[in-house]
Amino acid sequence: MARTWLSWLGGCLLVSALGMVPPPQNVRMNSVNFKNILQWEPPAFAKGNLTYTAQFQSYNSFQDVCNSTALTECHFSSVSKYGYHIFRVRAEFADEYSDWINITFCPMDDTAIGPPGMQVKVLAESLHMSFFAPEVVGEHETWTMKSLYSSWVYNVQYWKNGTHKKFQLSTPYDFEVLRNLEPQTTYCLHVRGFLLEQNKSGEWSQPICETTTSDETLPSWVIAIILIASVFVVFLLLLSCFASMWYIYKKTKYAFAPGNSLPQHLKEFLSYPNHSTLLFYSLPPPDEKEVFDKLSVVAEDLPSSCSLRMSALRGSMEPGSEKETHSTSQSHLPVVTSASEGDQSAKQGPTLLVQSPALELSDTRPV
Ligand SMILES: *[C@@H]1O[C@H](CO)[C@@H](O)[C@H](O)[C@H]1NC(C)=O
Ligand SMILES: *[C@@H]1O[C@H](CO)[C@@H](O)[C@H](O)[C@H]1NC(C)=O
Ligand SMILES: *[C@@H]1O[C@H](CO)[C@@H](O)[C@H](O)[C@H]1NC(C)=O
Ligand SMILES: *[C@@H]1O[C@H](CO)[C@@H](O)[C@H](O)[C@H]1NC(C)=O
Ligand SMILES: *[C@@H]1O[C@H](CO)[C@@H](O)[C@H](O)[C@H]1NC(C)=O
Repeated sequence: MARTWLSWLGGCLLVSALGMVPPPQNVRMNSVNFKNILQWEPPAFAKGNLTYTAQFQSYNSFQDVCNSTALTECHFSSVSKYGYHIFRVRAEFADEYSDWINITFCPMDDTAIGPPGMQVKVLAESLHMSFFAPEVVGEHETWTMKSLYSSWVYNVQYWKNGTHKKFQLSTPYDFEVLRNLEPQTTYCLHVRGFLLEQNKSGEWSQPICETTTSDETLPSWVIAIILIASVFVVFLLLLSCFASMWYIYKKTKYAFAPGNSLPQHLKEFLSYPNHSTLLFYSLPPPDEKEVFDKLSVVAEDLPSSCSLRMSALRGSMEPGSEKETHSTSQSHLPVVTSASEGDQSAKQGPTLLVQSPALELSDTRPV
């Protein structure tokens, strides 16, 4: 301690007594992405305004780069990236100068890795990140730090804004997606370059904070439920459609064939056998008239043509039974052809004609 103090005091006395120029202090190479800047500080006990000369060794000889500059830094961006280089600087005052201060510098190993660029896009609950490796200073823009180092990867850290727990990921690619993040949450992330071989980290980029949104797409179980529900609804619709069509069919069938249906009170009335005989006398007169009208028309027909017409009619009405009926009783009864008007019961003969409404009624009773 005492010795260093003495040498410091001695140097101080020497400088002031003999007029020697002290060398610059704290000489260092500040290099980021191969932008090499030699920096220093003015020496203590400087006489006046000093100038500095900085050189680097090239092919065993030193070349001036910054000649008698008043600045305290010098740019050495044009030096080769490969191998070791010696840089030196000295302070000058008038004709006097200090000793050289040498430093060795290996750009590939010693240059610092600057922060990569990053773009972040929010897609629902995921963050899509694009990385841009830092460009090499003094080279074409296609030269990046990533292209110079084969073991380059991006280290990403992300965290929820306001929390301290940080999550990490590494990727050699320029694109990465953070998936399944919490919705409506602000995430902050930053990225740096990292050299696996050298175990060397770059500088972190400025954090970018983005807020995730809700996932617009529905989860699969919701889709499944909706699908099942819609199938069920369609099934119900089809069912009701068929039901209504069946209902309409029934209605129209009765509407076009009203003779087959009876008012409810009549049906009930007829369900008792005693009542059906009573009905013969209590039938409404219009029905009897209709039957009677048909009778009067039929009576004018000729027997021969009648039988032919009747058999033809019966054939159309009851296929299969034509041959049997043709040879039997019906042909000799002109009255029967009165059925051609549509009343089947009339085929049985004139005596039955009065009862024909009753026969009709008994047909429809089970319906
Ligand atoms: C040093 O330089 C400054 C301007 O840079 C000037 O004002 C000052 O007078 C100079 N000092 C001496 C001792 O020359
Ligand atoms: C630097 O200055 C010295 C004289 O001070 C001169 O001889 C030398 O050529 C200069 N170098 C450059 C590169 O300008
Ligand atoms: C700087 O290097 C030169 C030779 O290149 C040497 O003579 C000188 O002593 C060195 N200075 C220091 C401070 O190491
Ligand atoms: C992050 O959270 C802090 C409070 O914890 C808040 O002040 C800041 O605005 C938030 N930043 C973003 C980008 O949301
Ligand atoms: C890499 O460097 C870190 C410090 O920067 C150190 O803690 C770690 O042990 C190193 N890993 C290897 C494999 O050298």
